[in-house]
Amino acid sequence: MFSHAHPMLAGKHIALGVTGGISVYKMCTVVRLLKKAGAEVRVMMTRAATEFVTPLTFSTLSQNEVVVSLWPQDKHASTDKSVKHIDIGLWADAMLVAPATANTIAHIAHGYAEDALSAAILALRCPLIIAPAMDLDMWEHPATQQNLALLRSRGCFILPPEEGELASGLVGPGRLPEPETIVEYVNDVVAKTPLDLKKKKVLITAGPTHEPIDPVRFIGNRSSGKMGFALANAAALRGAEVTLIAGPVTLGTPQHVKRIDVETAQQMHDAVMAQMKKADIIIMAAAVADYAPVTAAAEKIKKKDAAMSLELRSTPDILRALGEKRTKKQRLIGFALETTNELTHAKEKLTKKKLDMIVLNSTRDKGAAFGHDTNVITLITAGGAVKKLPLMDKFDAAAEILSAIQELQQPRSHKSTN
Ligand code: CTP
Repeated sequence: MFSHAHPMLAGKHIALGVTGGISVYKMCTVVRLLKKAGAEVRVMMTRAATEFVTPLTFSTLSQNEVVVSLWPQDKHASTDKSVKHIDIGLWADAMLVAPATANTIAHIAHGYAEDALSAAILALRCPLIIAPAMDLDMWEHPATQQNLALLRSRGCFILPPEEGELASGLVGPGRLPEPETIVEYVNDVVAKTPLDLKKKKVLITAGPTHEPIDPVRFIGNRSSGKMGFALANAAALRGAEVTLIAGPVTLGTPQHVKRIDVETAQQMHDAVMAQMKKADIIIMAAAVADYAPVTAAAEKIKKKDAAMSLELRSTPDILRALGEKRTKKQRLIGFALETTNELTHAKEKLTKKKLDMIVLNSTRDKGAAFGHDTNVITLITAGGAVKKLPLMDKFDAAAEILSAIQELQQPRSHKSTN
C-alpha cells in the first residue's frame, strides 16, 4: 500500500542524481519516501557521491541498478548495450539532483557532460529539480549564485538550502533540507507540470516593446518579460510546442522553447500574425507600447536650448487584431495592467478584444507586475468567472493561468467565422 502523503508521485518515474556531499545519507530516506509514495526510482551517482554511500545501498533501496559511469569498462557500470544515461533522461517524469554540490551545479549550468549524471541532464525532457547543499562561502559565492540564476532562467526548479550548522562548523544557508521537505517539493513540481498540453501549439508574447526616437533613444516601459517567460517555461514543461515572441529583455530562453526576438510593436505584430494560424493557444503577456514616434530620426537628435515635442502615432493593437482573426477553436488570452477600477477596465478589454480570458494585474498589489519574481493575478473568463489568486511566484502564477485555460468551456459566441 502506498502512502498518500505525496499523491502525485504514485506511478511516476523519478530519476535521482546524487552528488558528493556530506548529506548524501539523507538521500537514502528520500529514496525510501519516494518508493513509499509509489514512484519508481532510478539513481545516478557521481564518483564523489560513492565516497559517502555505496551504489549498492541505493540500488537496494531503489530496487534498480545504479548508474555511475559513462563507460562500460567501469566496475560499477552496466553490461548491457543500452545507453543508460540517455535512457534515464527519456524515462523520467522528473529528475531531482540532491545534494547538488557547487561543482555539479557549475557543470549543469554550463552543459558539461563528463559523467553519466551531467550527460543525462543534457538529454533530459522533464522538469529538473536541484537541491543545492554546500558550505556557506561556496553557497554565497557569486559564481554559484550566477550558475543558479542561469539554471532558473532555463526553467530548473531550485529547492533552496536551509539555514543551520554546516559540516564546516559555519552557520548559515547551505544545508540540504530534510527528506520530507525534498519529497514534498518533488510532489509539488510534478503536480504543477502535468503533460496536459502535449501536442498543443502555444504562442506567447513577453516583455516590452521599444519604439525608436533616434538611433540611441526609444520609448519603452518597465516590463521585464518575466511573466511571459514563466508562461513559456510552464507550457513547455507541460508538453506544449511553445513559440515565444520576446521584446527586448535580458532573460535566458527556457528549454524547449522557440524564441523570436523583436523590438517594436509593429515587429511584434508582424511576428505574431505570421505565427498565429497554427497556434491552439495564444497568450499576449507583452506590454506593447501604445504609441511610437511618427518618424525615427536617422541621426541622433541634438540638444537645443528650447522645449521639444515628439509627435506620436498609435501602434497596432495586436490583441485586438488577434480577436478579429482568431478561429473558434483557438484560445485567446490577454493581460491587463490597471491602476484603478481594475475589474471594470479588465472586463472591458476582455469583451472589446474578444478574449476567452484576461489576466488582471493591479499596480496597487504589493509584489505584483513589472520586475518582480512574484505576481498577484485575477483571472477573468469570458463566461464571467472571476478568480483572484494570492501573491505567488511567477511560475506558479503561470501554472494557474495554464490550468485555467485548460478548464475554459467551449468558446463564446463572439468568435469569428471559422
Ligand atoms: N496589447 C496589444 N497591442 C497593443 C497594446 C496592448 O496586443 N498595442 C495587449 C497586451 O499585450 C495585453 C492587452 O492588450 O494583453 C491589454 O494591454 P493594456 O496595455 O493593459 O491595454 P490597452 O489596450 O493598451 O489599454 P490601456 O493602455 O488604455 O489600458
